[in-house]
Amino acid sequence: MSRADDDRLFEMRLRRSHADLFDMLDRLYGAHPRYDAFRADLVAVLRRNWQARPKDLKWLDLERDLEPDWFQRPDRAGYVFYLDRFNGTLQGVLEKLDYLEALGITYVHFMPCLQPRPGDSDGGYSVMDYRAINPAYGSMADFEAVTQALRARGISVCVDMVLNHTAKEHDWAVRARAGEARYADYYLMFDDATLPEAYERTLIEIFPEHAPGSFTHYPDMGKWVWTTFNEHQWDLNWANPDVFLEMVDIMLHLANRGAEILRFDAVAFMWKRMGTKCQSEPEVHMLLQALRAACRIAAPAVIHLEEAIVGPAEMIPYLGAGEHAGKEGNLAYHNSLMVQFWSALATRDTGLMRHVLKTHFPTSLPNATYATYIRCHDDIGWAVTDEDAAALGFSGVLHRAFLSDFYDGSFPVSFARGELFQYNPETGDKRISGSFASLAGLEAALETGDAWQIDRAVDRILLGHALIAGWGGIPLIYMGDEIALLNDYGYKTVPEHAHDSRWVHRPRMDWARAAAAMTGGDTPEAKVWHGTRAILAARAACPELHGAVPTEVLDAPLPGLFAHRRAAPAGPLICLYNFTAEWRHLSARWAGDAGATRFTDALSGGQVVPEHGMIALPPYARLWLR
Ligand code: GLC
Ligand code: GLC
Repeated sequence: MSRADDDRLFEMRLRRSHADLFDMLDRLYGAHPRYDAFRADLVAVLRRNWQARPKDLKWLDLERDLEPDWFQRPDRAGYVFYLDRFNGTLQGVLEKLDYLEALGITYVHFMPCLQPRPGDSDGGYSVMDYRAINPAYGSMADFEAVTQALRARGISVCVDMVLNHTAKEHDWAVRARAGEARYADYYLMFDDATLPEAYERTLIEIFPEHAPGSFTHYPDMGKWVWTTFNEHQWDLNWANPDVFLEMVDIMLHLANRGAEILRFDAVAFMWKRMGTKCQSEPEVHMLLQALRAACRIAAPAVIHLEEAIVGPAEMIPYLGAGEHAGKEGNLAYHNSLMVQFWSALATRDTGLMRHVLKTHFPTSLPNATYATYIRCHDDIGWAVTDEDAAALGFSGVLHRAFLSDFYDGSFPVSFARGELFQYNPETGDKRISGSFASLAGLEAALETGDAWQIDRAVDRILLGHALIAGWGGIPLIYMGDEIALLNDYGYKTVPEHAHDSRWVHRPRMDWARAAAAMTGGDTPEAKVWHGTRAILAARAACPELHGAVPTEVLDAPLPGLFAHRRAAPAGPLICLYNFTAEWRHLSARWAGDAGATRFTDALSGGQVVPEHGMIALPPYARLWLR
């Protein structure tokens, strides 16, 4: 394409997204004295990055313009890992392409891979340099080569972009600390404790055990700095347009190196307002829409995944609601689906799950879909509101406490092995760490050697994988969950990890176990591997699972059963899950009324034959009925 054509394309894209971008910026920064200069600077940043965008990525931009639903298609399936824990380095990923392909993976999330601060870096979420790859993993050239190789296999790469904070060792923070006014204004600094104390009255502590409070006092600077997470993570001041400009430049830099999905970390916290918990303020959504529009102008192939681990009603706006509909995140974590999976497993009752998923989540989303998951690198917080619990006739406080007791294994009949994370005695809040397999009962079952229990644990894992594959959205398999890796207690002897139980579920990949699982046999890891693979393959072949198809929660007629319908134009798919360890019998008439006509199971490929008018569902059955 000639330079003139290329410029023309940029102008067209700028025009397309102009209002989406500047309507937000006018409101966010319009009163700023340098606003006009900022607008001009922003367009210059967009143009410069577009001009620098590699040609193959510009072709990808065009392809995605033609196929804007690429990320909603049923053949998208994600795999999430730390590069060092997966296969050592970035280059190491290239040795495992066949493995990823065999599992059916078309999206990989390299957990934080940019240059972190030295020492404890919160698993890489304390970034020192956004333009450099963590040298332990390789170089930016390696990153580009690896993204290219993955793209050639139809696999898109997701990377983290930490928007809320930088490491205190980041150049901006170092200069702020040295007293440079320009950079001091990148952060939130206070001369005395008055304002921090006033904010603290309504803030929620994120790491109450090892990083209490949301501010840090630095006697050397004579300042209080806003540090929501750890002391070494300084919150950025997004009310400063220069921060927006810097971040757009970084975002496009990463896009131009081959990242296709940007995972925006901890977005809820980006805007502060006195008297609130400073999460999910309206300005957060304006910022996210503006970032989305900027990307659509200069790197349109790229989509945004938003990490907002919040209550159900607060979460949906991250996928674009009201004035932001279709213009905000393309993906956001379906935290409630995850929480409800664990809650239903523990209670063997799907009432709360049905209520929450039905009341708070729309049946379809324009230009967006969920990132569905059962486990990730973080803890599980029991995001069940008191109101939702009350609607089912029980207490939110007690239910959340029960879930923690169940999953740390202390509840008498629990099958789970997990660890507490950040107990907050003030609120009673207890979160949970643990690997999928250990939380689902495999660790305890293997210890007793009880074959029936081992099989039930395998079933629970496959139930979870089927649920996230069939809900709608991109299922994200967390590394090791395809071969049922257990808790890794070794973290307790690593000084920079010992204080953070999330490391219990961040094991190293066990390639010997993976190889054994792939050859088959009667082991739990083989059953989980082959089961997971079959689920993803079945998903890829189901047009009903396209992200644009509505998901309708059904009133399953049995307490331990969860059912939803993918209401596809050519006929629905009824997804059925038995959350109990007992056989359940479902009336075939009910299934027929729900829309099943052929009685084939898209998951197993088999025919479902009712007996005496009933469909028999084994313990933890999962069925995708046509
Ligand atoms: C995100 C990450 C989490 C990290 C936090 C602070 O929520 O998922 O691991 O601790 O942000 O960056
Ligand atoms: C809280 C935050 C989330 C973070 C997590 C880390 O849930 O909302 O962003 O990942 O804590 O434990």
